[in-house]
Amino acid sequence: MTGKLYGIGVGPGDPGLMTLRAKEILERCGVVGYPVRSEGEGSVAFDIASQVVDMSSKTVAEFVFSMNPRDSVREKCREAAINRMCSLLDEGSDIAMVTLGDVGVYSTYMYIDEEVRSRGYETEIVPGIPSFCHGSALARQPLMIGDEGLAVVPMAKGNTHLLMEAMEGFDNIVVMKAFKAVDTIADMMEAKGLDPSDAVVVSNVGMEGEYIGPLDRNREYGYFTTVLIRKR
Ligand SMILES: C[S@@+](CC[C@H](N)C(=O)[O-])C[C@H]1O[C@@H](n2cnc3c(N)ncnc32)[C@H](O)[C@@H]1O
Repeated sequence: MTGKLYGIGVGPGDPGLMTLRAKEILERCGVVGYPVRSEGEGSVAFDIASQVVDMSSKTVAEFVFSMNPRDSVREKCREAAINRMCSLLDEGSDIAMVTLGDVGVYSTYMYIDEEVRSRGYETEIVPGIPSFCHGSALARQPLMIGDEGLAVVPMAKGNTHLLMEAMEGFDNIVVMKAFKAVDTIADMMEAKGLDPSDAVVVSNVGMEGEYIGPLDRNREYGYFTTVLIRKR
């Protein structure tokens, strides 16, 4: 029988925030996989899941999704990864692909799911707790209350226009991929007449080096950094 592909959100870092459903499916699947940009990179999502599920008897599979600037290289790599997944499914293996946080929030798995499903295989997506939800809980700052709205924007590659638009139209903003942009976010808030002290940095939530605190321009932030802005 052909296997089934699962995309599993494992939460943002604290293994205690993995869902029962995620645990149950991971325990059942013979293959546990994750996407990487280059071979041997490892996966934070896998490390989280390993603290809850015994992986010793499982086939652990890395699937390379290159970020090479050349379209043809990226395409070739992606095709090879999906072909390998489909071969495992053809052999009857169920595959659990683990994702940090929630699967619907900036996750490579969504591309994989679309492609594998289009090839006629059965797939299922299991949601996880997104990093900004755990960050909001730790910061004791609501994401939105009453009639307020929430914008979620990325700050990758120096891209500031989405944050600019969000600051004009929303009471609450989650800024993801903010690790190199904490200064820029503080500057943009000041330029808009907002007080940077109305923002909280939630970094490495549920992981070693967790920081929940103000926008500190003198601090270094790692990749797992999100900023929660709440207009007063
Ligand atoms: C590729 S996105 C993955 C998002 C993830 N799927 C989620 O649901 O949160 C990576 C970004 O998510 C945020 N992030 C992920 N894990 C985090 C954590 N433990 N603490 C703070 N931010 C985190 C950061 O903004 C990071 O740059």
